[in-house]
Amino acid sequence: MAPRIFITGASGYVGGQFISNMLGKHPEYQIIGLVRTKEQGEKLTSKYPSVQLAIGDLDSSEVLVEQSKLADVVIQAADCDHLNAITFIMQGLSSGQKHGFFIQLSGAASVLDISNGVGQPSTKVWDDLVDLDDILGFDETRMHSTSDKLVFSEGKKHGVRTAIVAPPMIYGKGEGIKEWSMGLPWLAELFKKRGKGFKLGKGKTLVSHIHVRDIADVLVYFAEQALGADGGRVEWGERGFYYAEAGENTYLDIVAAIAREMAGKGMIETAELDELTSEEANRLHVWATAMWGSNMRIRASRLRGLEWVPKQPGAIETVFEMLE
Ligand SMILES: NC(=O)c1ccc[n+]([C@@H]2O[C@H](COP(=O)([O-])OP(=O)(O)OC[C@H]3O[C@@H](n4cnc5c(N)ncnc54)[C@H](OP(=O)(O)O)[C@@H]3O)[C@@H](O)[C@H]2O)c1
Repeated sequence: MAPRIFITGASGYVGGQFISNMLGKHPEYQIIGLVRTKEQGEKLTSKYPSVQLAIGDLDSSEVLVEQSKLADVVIQAADCDHLNAITFIMQGLSSGQKHGFFIQLSGAASVLDISNGVGQPSTKVWDDLVDLDDILGFDETRMHSTSDKLVFSEGKKHGVRTAIVAPPMIYGKGEGIKEWSMGLPWLAELFKKRGKGFKLGKGKTLVSHIHVRDIADVLVYFAEQALGADGGRVEWGERGFYYAEAGENTYLDIVAAIAREMAGKGMIETAELDELTSEEANRLHVWATAMWGSNMRIRASRLRGLEWVPKQPGAIETVFEMLE
């Protein structure tokens, strides 16, 4: 029988791209996508007719438990901080005959860093090989830490094999029903609205990133390993934490490229950038400092050790697509 994969966030940016990549490679796999509404479901099946729908949300305990029971692999690609979803999925996986695997799409925002001031670079790069113990020991004040810890503890309690994949900023045009993420498109919208681009402070903060098709490929790889003999090459369980990144840029490089491209297209008058304080930027968007003024530097050494290499174009090369 074809492997059965249950994915939450099927209508989302990364979840949709996962479906596209997975079916492109394994068209025979049975994918069951959780969507909140019938309308979202219709959009999804008109694009991917072989996908089966599970209608519900992350609090729909019955749906999550029943689908997880039947699955070989569950991918949680909706809201990673939703604790009930993790608990329900684990209940289902542990009570199913297949005793499937759990892959949580988390994030690297736990290492956001403005200790040298907004717009200033930090030197610390969090490496998931060298710094694994520190990363696993992050306390609950760090973003996504509570949910990451719950994945490990519920996995241990229920005997479910788990892995966490944590990307930084994701960029690029997705092929699912949601084509764009928030970070850079929101920035371009703000540039357009105020008629000019901006940087936070000197804009020298560094941000790791990964293309949406690359992060989807990473999730496909993890699912394939789960389906291989004895869980394949991935380390599952309490040390199953993997960053996924393809490189880094300063925000200045990124915002300058967006402003140049927008000015070239006549969307704003000049490619010059204003220098905003954190307070000024946060008045434009409440998450401005976190999204565009903080360092988020990670190194996916564990994934690279599995010979994974990014294949997609870089963040700056793809800016033009976003503005089309
Ligand atoms: N995008 C990034 O740059 C980035 C970077 C690092 C980590 N992440 C993490 O990756 C995960 C997915 O991100 P994304 O960019 O793909 O987000 P997205 O485009 O907003 O997709 C989220 C998906 O989850 C669904 N969803 C959210 N809350 C739900 C709930 N309570 N019940 C049922 N479905 C729910 C949404 O359904 P609807 O379509 O109905 O809203 C949507 O399908 C998130 O946890 C995010 O924190 C994202």
